[in-house]
Amino acid sequence: MSSHQHIQIEKIIELSDEYRSFVLDRHFDTLPGQFCMVWIPGFDEKPFSFSDSNELTVKKVGPFTEELFNISKKNHLQIRGPYGSSFPNNTRTVVGGGCGIAPLKFVVNKYLEIKNIILGGKNKSDLLFLDFFENEIGSELTTFTEDGSHGLKGIVTDIDYFGKPNYAVCGPEKMIQAVGNKINLPNKTFVSLERYMKCAVGLCGACSMSGYRVCVDGPVLRYDLIKDSSHFGKLHRVKSGELKSLDYLCD
Ligand SMILES: Cc1cc2nc3c(=O)[nH]c(=O)nc-3n(C[C@H](O)[C@H](O)[C@H](O)COP(=O)(O)OP(=O)(O)OC[C@H]3O[C@@H](n4cnc5c(N)ncnc54)[C@H](O)[C@@H]3O)c2cc1C
Ligand code: FES
Repeated sequence: MSSHQHIQIEKIIELSDEYRSFVLDRHFDTLPGQFCMVWIPGFDEKPFSFSDSNELTVKKVGPFTEELFNISKKNHLQIRGPYGSSFPNNTRTVVGGGCGIAPLKFVVNKYLEIKNIILGGKNKSDLLFLDFFENEIGSELTTFTEDGSHGLKGIVTDIDYFGKPNYAVCGPEKMIQAVGNKINLPNKTFVSLERYMKCAVGLCGACSMSGYRVCVDGPVLRYDLIKDSSHFGKLHRVKSGELKSLDYLCD
């Protein structure tokens, strides 16, 4: 297991009450879709995707992320990684919802051939990095909000997907499932999954899901490999190892 690096926070960007980006003082040798483990000594360690090679974007949902929100620019972060698989560099269409939009910013920034960007959220403030995506020349942006506060009123499955694979899909798992099924090109659709993680290097089994260890085989997996798995869209393992119904994850 690689050791932690002490990383200085260069800037903290408040995207909304719930979302914050931490700009780090150095770039990691990482690809879009990969993640790192952030350790708060004496507290816990949790996985976060890169929203750029020097940036993490966090949604405040519980004790660890609340503690992260208390961290100021003067502090360091203890980070190990990058870990896991990445989205393929011939991705053409990205589809994201909620905090799943964060790693897709990195996809769009790094892979220059993106043709379509499709984003969804409950309201406009869920559409992370809207200014960034609106300024992406050469890509068509379509946004959906459930309350109609930006773009089309509805959800990302309300449009027809045709002809622009490969697809990168990231967001709540039930959204991933609905989008993956609608696209219906399972071997050209790559999805990013979240599972509870401890070691992040394939040793402990905490993140196991129907024969895959999400930390090393994923988090980005081809949709045909997992779409019929008994856990996908239904179950996830909690800290104790017990399987529970999946009614959230990257909401
Ligand atoms: C590979 C990978 C990449 C990830 N990347 C990111 C990222 O870029 N940004 C990010 O913010 N998070 C990301 N996560 C999720 C992040 O690790 C969890 O949000 C974090 O563990 C929450 O810790 P906590 O102690 O604050 O809340 P917890 O105590 O773990 O959760 C508190 C409650 O919030 C709910 N909850 C937990 N996680 C989420 C969630 N993601 N969305 C909504 N509700 C949730 C649950 O109901 C839970 O009971 C990633 C997870 C994985 C596996
Ligand atoms: S977190 Fe330990 S095997 Fe994946």
